[in-house]
Amino acid sequence: MTKPVRAGDPIVVDVALGERSYDIVIGRGQLTSLGQRLATLRPGAKAAVVSDETVARLHLRATEAALAAAGIGVSSVTVPPGESSKSFAVLEKVCESLIAARIERGDLVVALGGGVIGDLAGFAAAVVRRGLDYVQVPTTLLAQVDSSVGGKTAIDSGHGKNLVGAFHQPILVVADTALLDTLPAREFRAGYAEVAKYGLIADAAFFTWLEANWRDVFAGSAAREHAIAVSCRMKAAIVGRDERETGERALLNLGHTFGHALEAAAGFSGRLLHGEAISLGMVLAFEFSARRGLLAATDAARVERHLAAVGLPTRVASTFAAISLGVPTADRLMELMAQDKKVKRGKLTFILVRGIGGSFIAPDVDAAEVRAFLVEKLAEQ
Ligand SMILES: NC(=O)c1ccc[n+]([C@@H]2O[C@H](COP(=O)([O-])OP(=O)(O)OC[C@H]3O[C@@H](n4cnc5c(N)ncnc54)[C@H](O)[C@@H]3O)[C@@H](O)[C@H]2O)c1
Ligand SMILES: [Zn+2]
Repeated sequence: MTKPVRAGDPIVVDVALGERSYDIVIGRGQLTSLGQRLATLRPGAKAAVVSDETVARLHLRATEAALAAAGIGVSSVTVPPGESSKSFAVLEKVCESLIAARIERGDLVVALGGGVIGDLAGFAAAVVRRGLDYVQVPTTLLAQVDSSVGGKTAIDSGHGKNLVGAFHQPILVVADTALLDTLPAREFRAGYAEVAKYGLIADAAFFTWLEANWRDVFAGSAAREHAIAVSCRMKAAIVGRDERETGERALLNLGHTFGHALEAAAGFSGRLLHGEAISLGMVLAFEFSARRGLLAATDAARVERHLAAVGLPTRVASTFAAISLGVPTADRLMELMAQDKKVKRGKLTFILVRGIGGSFIAPDVDAAEVRAFLVEKLAEQ
């Protein structure tokens, strides 16, 4: 499955945030350039690599070697894999390890892993010594197209996900697409839901391209780099205009209001991955928009067809049945959406669409209308 690694010319995407600007370097084999890039950006800095046990087993040695080859002193901290590591207890362990390794202002934290590690290590970097520079080396598709870009870092609270965190931009993102060769197929597919999301938000031509080329994206050819670059370019542009999500950045939540409620209803159990819930959520967002007369039902059907073609779930009832969970009721989902931080003053904020690539923020969606829609949808197989 693993393809030979060759470090050709990378695609570089600029995240333009004034003095906090940084590059996203995308390409097969780019991990080998990490040390040189950091030695140039922060001459003389030491680095601590934070990763999870699974990623460490597969990719830590190569990462340490890339850093050491550029003369960078390296230490590492490894935590258990999975969402449960986004906790106060694991954050404490990471912070204490960074301090024990004498990582000081001017040194670097390297987040080597998926979104869990990016969020955890990024937050640790935001708070240790009142702020350390950090670098994202994302190892899941979701992390390469979404969580490593934009500077949101967080751990979870007993009250919900991502409730304790900070905006803290990395100084560099190195997305080596060869690292995805070791990712389980199901995780890759789930990350692909976020790739498709960018087309649905604002780039109909990209969605059409994905319909024709998704197999190559999965196979790991140059199409994979292209899809990741288009995704990062869109996220970078949106974040560049609205770093702290006071407006436009909310578009990135297409499918996420429904999706988060479904994820919560499945108990964040791993039986329904985030990207799988977002696939269901995006289909619902398109169908809800069609029901409101915003777009032709054929557009909603086209979205569902593509997501189903790649093997993502698109129907709530059959998905929950397949993972041996009872289908959540409309009332339960409404309750979960009300707890979601995307609800403001009792009104539901949805990202709706006027067509593929035509998303917009609808801040005052009537709860009764959403409930009626869900009652109808949950009854469908
Ligand atoms: N900060 C943001 O803007 C943002 C955006 C989206 C999601 N997130 C967060 O991202 C997290 C989900 O990220 P994720 O889906 O990457 O999950 P993850 O980090 O848990 O990774 C998924 C699984 O894949 C394994 N893995 C990672 N890379 C691998 C590789 N190359 N080969 C083999 N196995 C590998 C991990 O050990 C883990 O078991 C959530 O906590 C979510 O809240 C953050
Ligand atoms: Zn998401």
